[in-house]
Amino acid sequence: MTVAIRQLSKHFVGEVSGLDLRQPLTKEQAAEIEAGMDKYAVLVFHDQDITDEQQLAFALNFGGREERRGGNITKDADYRLASGLNDVSNLGKDGKPLAKDHRTHLFNLGNCLWHSDSSFRAIPAKFSLLSARVVNPKGGNTEFADMRAAYDALDDETKAEIDDFVCEHSLMYSRGSLGFVDYSDEEKQMFKPVLQRLVRTHPVHGRKSLYLSSHAGKVLGMSMPEGRLLLRDLTEHATQPEFVYVHKWKLHDLVMWDNRQTMHRVRRYDQSQPRDMRRATVAGTQPTVAQQAAE
Ligand code: OGA
Ligand code: MN
Repeated sequence: MTVAIRQLSKHFVGEVSGLDLRQPLTKEQAAEIEAGMDKYAVLVFHDQDITDEQQLAFALNFGGREERRGGNITKDADYRLASGLNDVSNLGKDGKPLAKDHRTHLFNLGNCLWHSDSSFRAIPAKFSLLSARVVNPKGGNTEFADMRAAYDALDDETKAEIDDFVCEHSLMYSRGSLGFVDYSDEEKQMFKPVLQRLVRTHPVHGRKSLYLSSHAGKVLGMSMPEGRLLLRDLTEHATQPEFVYVHKWKLHDLVMWDNRQTMHRVRRYDQSQPRDMRRATVAGTQPTVAQQAAE
């Protein structure tokens, strides 16, 4: 089968046909998908009824696996997925939607804020691959923003001002902005801020993008309020409809995005009904900035 990619949105997003993700990819196919990711930043695959293992095997064509530890508050004993994929569902180990006041549920609501996966890690994620195993009946669209197009559209003065800015990112900033502020000492240690450049350059095509995320909570060299206002302004700019693609999930869709060039968020959905989404995450290979100042 030949791989074909059709562009879905003004600046980015490709819809891929001609691949069965239950089968191993040839070297050529993997290279075509990787090139497609560099160009479109988000790729959509339909009708992929895959297992966790097949999802992970597909992800590993594009780099190493990012471990899920450090990314949420769920204790290992409570973790639902034996495969170790990131559990982005609203389900507990019993397969039922988590209670409204369940701590894991409250924490996971942070995915409704615009973010780039693992920007709270010193070496943040490269690609994320999200597979829809149960689609929620109401809401739950996932939105993506093209951070390259958003950067390009800034005026020259703003570009010059922010080009070398560095931000602190932490899960405690994103969750804190929703009023989730109670952490154990172990969690505080795990969620210690890391540093990220505000503007990053893609290693293959060299385009710059705004590296924003709700995990960002401080701009080095600026007061907290001044820095946060800047981040809010830039986020408002970057998430205008022109730069955004809305994905309406169908069962067995797989959507893959480049966290170095995009942000995403999930919209509110019916929490009394299941939504089973599972993510395989491809690790990044280098920090965006030296880390010592975050200590
Ligand atoms: C993610 C995420 C959004 C969604 O998997 O990283 O933010 O639609 N998911 O569940
Ligand atoms: Mn995410």
